[in-house]
Parts: sequence; structure tokens; C-alpha cells
Amino acid sequence: MINSWLDDIKKCRSLQKLDDIRVALLGKNGELTNMFATMKTVPNEEKKQFAMKLNEHKSSVTKALENKKSQLLAIQTKKKLKASAIDVSRYTQPATQGAMHPITKTMNRIIDYFTALNYEVIDGPLVEDDFHNFAALNLPVYHPARDMQDTFYFNDGKLLRTHTSPVQIRTMLSQKPPIRMIAPGKVFRRDFDITHTPMFNQVEGLVVQHGQDISFANLKHTMQEFVKAMFGDVKVRFRPSFFPFTEPSAEVDISCLFCQQKGCQVCSQTGWLEVLGCGVVDQNVFKEVGLENCSGFAFGLGVERFAMLLHQIPDLRSLFQTDVRLLRQFR
Ligand code: DAH
Repeated sequence: MINSWLDDIKKCRSLQKLDDIRVALLGKNGELTNMFATMKTVPNEEKKQFAMKLNEHKSSVTKALENKKSQLLAIQTKKKLKASAIDVSRYTQPATQGAMHPITKTMNRIIDYFTALNYEVIDGPLVEDDFHNFAALNLPVYHPARDMQDTFYFNDGKLLRTHTSPVQIRTMLSQKPPIRMIAPGKVFRRDFDITHTPMFNQVEGLVVQHGQDISFANLKHTMQEFVKAMFGDVKVRFRPSFFPFTEPSAEVDISCLFCQQKGCQVCSQTGWLEVLGCGVVDQNVFKEVGLENCSGFAFGLGVERFAMLLHQIPDLRSLFQTDVRLLRQFR
């Protein structure tokens, strides 16, 4: 009997079963417990012997149960540790490579080009006032660009800058010429269709020095070299235009990258793509910032337009839809 109990305990493989065995032997109604109850039926002269045997059995069963329990617990712990172990030497997939957004890439290329020519990169506030965004740029009160149709106004009369040109004003007010700067950043207009988003990026450029030596020729050369560095071997043309803050003003076109000037949808059958606006700084602007006897040129361009032309992205809105598949194409 005792041997078969001890054998059961020895063969037991789980803590649950081991507890079942303990209850079956030593529980309230256990086999061994019940045997103690039969003591009173044992003749007196055998009682001592009987009791000794029972106690011996009880202590060897208890000991066997305890031993087995700690054995099973040890196995269980070992299993748990093994299951939760991290093998730091194991090979795994390397992290996937990220990608720069095409706008960031294009912006960086433009910035790299001009910083290599010693232009300073200058930041300006996105929330501007009428003076910096309009008045000082020779945009009179009745100018249509001030219309609520185009500009986001705040209740206090401040506004979201509609171009990066106010950074020209801030720079001329805080630095003495010679100035050679670019101002990259976000601008805002109330516009939304295939070719317009309410927020987009521009890069402004300004070169100013004392005296009258800076002419349209300097501007033309600078723009020609820049555009060729960006778009490769293209034809460049200067088209007379108007901006309140420059006189004379021009828009720069490049020969269409998509049809070799045969005429296509992108260039609206003209063979030319407009890429930026520029001009010789209007003397009225110098007056507004208190500069005398200065000359200079300025330019402004849309980064999204550059990115779309450089990477052949047909729909401007896809640049802002945060679809990771767009980025994957730019790894
Ligand atoms: N500020 C103009 C715009 O938002 C772009 C521009 C044109 C900037 C000519 C200039 C410039 O500095 O000379 O459309």
C-alpha cells in the first residue's frame, strides 16, 4: 500500500495531479486519514505498533509529496524562463529604410545650391502683419493680393504669410548690406484644387549691396545657373512680368521636360514650364526699410512645383496625402 502511494507520487507529472494525490491520502476523507480513524478498532496491544507504522507512512508520504512538489515547481520555472527568454544573438529582419519626402528632398537641394554660393538661410514667422507681408513690399492697400479670397486673416489683423517675401523685409531691417540670403518655408493661401493647396512651400532669395552695381544681368545669370543646376540641360527664357516689389520683373520659364517642346498637357501645349518669379528690387522697397543708395535682386519659387517637375508627380495633392507608398518610391 505505502509503496503504491509512493510510486504514484514518483510518477506524478503535474502540480494539479500531485495535489489530487495529497487530498486522496491526507485530505479530510483521505485514505491515510481514514486509517488513523480505524485506530480505535485496533486491539490495545497492537495499537502502539499500528500508530507507529501509520505515522511513519504519513511522514514518508508527506516528505515524498514535498520533494515532488519542489521538483515540479523547479521544472515549471525552468519552462517559463525558457519561454520568455530573448536570444539576443538571433538574426532578424533589419529595420526598413525610411525615405525623405520629395518636398524635403527638393527643398534641401535648393538650399544646398545657394548655401554653396554663400547665401545665408534665414527663417521668418508664419504669422505676419500687414506691414511685412504687404505694405513694405510696395503692395498698396487696394492690391488684390490682400483680398480675403487669398489671405487667411486673424481677428487681430494679423495674417498667415502668403509668401516668403516678408523675410526680405525682416532681413533688410535687421542686417546691413551686403545681404545674400534665402528664406525657405511654408506659406498659406485660401486656394484648393488640383494645382493649389492652402499650405505650400516657397524659397525666397535676396541679394542687396550698397551702390548701383547690381543689375538685371546679375539676376539673369544667377537664375540661369540655378535653374540648369536643378533641371539639367534645359532652355531658359525670361518673360516680362509684374511684381509690386521688383522693377523690372520677370518670370523664368524652362523648356518642357516632358515633351521636348513638342507640346503636351503639362506645358499646356506651349513647350515652356514656368518655374519662378524674380526681379530687380524696387526702390520703393528700399525706402520702406530705410536703405539708401542700394541695388539688388530678388526671386521666389514654389518648392512643390519644383518637386513635381523633378520627380514627375502629376497631382500636387498626392504630396500631402501621407500615403507611405509615395515615400517608398523615393528611398
Ligand atoms: N512673392 C511672390 C509670390 O508669392 C514670388 C516672388 C516673385 C518673390 C518675384 C520675389 C520676386 O522675391 O522677386 O508669388
